[in-house]
Amino acid sequence: MKRITTRITPEQLAEQRTWCDRIMERNAAQPRPQLAFVDTYGCQQNEADSERLRGYLAQMGYGFTQEEAAADVIVINTCAIREHAEQRVLGNVGALVHTKRDNPNQVICLCGCMAQEPHVAEKIKRSYRQVDLVFGPHALWRFPELLCRCLTGRERIFDLEDEPGSIAEGIPVVRQNQVKAWVSIMYGCNNFCSYCIVPYVRGRERSREPQAVLDEIRGLVQAGYRDITLLGQNVNSYGKDLEKPMTFAALLTAASEIPGDFLLRFMTSHPKDASPALFEVMANSPKVAPCLHLPFQSGNDRVLQAMNRGYTRGGYLEKIAALRAAIPDIVLTSDVIVGFPGETEKEFEDTLRLVEEVGFDALFTFLYSPRVGTPAARLPDPVGKAEKSAWFQRLVDLQNRISQEKHQAYVGKTLRCLVDGVGETPGSLTARTAGNRLVHLEGPEDWIGTFAQVTIQNASTWALFGAAGEREKGGIHG
Ligand code: SAH
Ligand code: SF4
Ligand code: F3S
Repeated sequence: MKRITTRITPEQLAEQRTWCDRIMERNAAQPRPQLAFVDTYGCQQNEADSERLRGYLAQMGYGFTQEEAAADVIVINTCAIREHAEQRVLGNVGALVHTKRDNPNQVICLCGCMAQEPHVAEKIKRSYRQVDLVFGPHALWRFPELLCRCLTGRERIFDLEDEPGSIAEGIPVVRQNQVKAWVSIMYGCNNFCSYCIVPYVRGRERSREPQAVLDEIRGLVQAGYRDITLLGQNVNSYGKDLEKPMTFAALLTAASEIPGDFLLRFMTSHPKDASPALFEVMANSPKVAPCLHLPFQSGNDRVLQAMNRGYTRGGYLEKIAALRAAIPDIVLTSDVIVGFPGETEKEFEDTLRLVEEVGFDALFTFLYSPRVGTPAARLPDPVGKAEKSAWFQRLVDLQNRISQEKHQAYVGKTLRCLVDGVGETPGSLTARTAGNRLVHLEGPEDWIGTFAQVTIQNASTWALFGAAGEREKGGIHG
């Protein structure tokens, strides 16, 4: 049955503003300005959530610091996708015992996907007593209330109720970048890939109203943002839960009709729902960047079925062929998991063959990591770590060769790139091609936020190196 998404009402959000005001008053009475540190792990969705946590913190009167020791409030926005991500978080939280010893009034908050896992919350409760407040993604919109209760009460707070999830419009946002912006178009996931924790911690798929999304994009373009990424775990199922259903292709079309000079990107697309209508919009709209991140996870049909991915190797390859027919110079990237439980070497080699056949511009490769509560974590997993790591290396070596070749083919070409930040050495800048390839170049900082014609002179596996010619007017500095 179709579920109509729960929407947080304007009154409920107004109440959160009242909690912000209370903290603001409290902060104003302190002998020095109060500082917050927000530490983010995981995907772009988490980055976007952290921008809202910062928005709330700014509304409470906090300034920001990057130093844990200087912070009055530390917010750790966590990721649960793989064990490695969780261990990094726990290591860093463990080290906060020292900052808290030096500043006993420091408030330590842990939120995000890890917090929504019951066994993690239990561990924090028992073994990480320096953590004062724990809340999952569902409670983010109530952060001011939770923090205020934490500051005024003496008890630790764990707010972790599981729920299908809601949508809150109008939470303040402090963005990290002045050129590129994230816009969440939907939350949650219904796909339940057998290895993945996301549906358990982020709730069911729910879409923002198209008008809210389009208004946000319009505002960003007017504010000078040039590169806007629409976010969702599976953007291709956008709009199915709306009272007036709408497809992602239709939303993208409407977004690309917004006046202004900007690029639209989106992630992530699930291959089972990537539609010809989507490819058509991408091909026809100059504002939609010519790149697609389309995770295939495995090149073997038995493994794909065990992963509950809902497509076959052949089906995936057909979509790639249709996409390339529509947009011949499309930049393709993907995610792959190596060592899914029960995967054999022969099955893994189907993945290698698929990678060779498609020729991705870049790949995000992951060693399978069992997640508590997912069906895959209960499957027999006979292949040892050393063998899986050797397969992993074969995949990385293959992709590195392909990426190098793909990048080499850019040398000598002149491309319109968006200058998006400073590089690591003085006087250097970074830019992105429309296909989102990283370009290093030299130039002054006031080029940031402008499009420039860049001639590519050199290439490595990871990046392109170019020189800027003609530059277009505009930019964030004038
Ligand atoms: N919603 C996105 C993916 C989000 S997670 C999609 O379906 O494409 C990002 C990537 O992490 C996944 O594509 C997958 O390759 C990887 N991943 C997810 N769970 C994992 C696990 N348990 N072990 C290893 N990699 C995993
Ligand atoms: Fe996880 Fe699959 Fe949902 Fe992606 S589509 S978030 S991999 S369950
Ligand atoms: Fe991690 Fe949660 Fe994103 S598990 S990848 S932060 S949705």
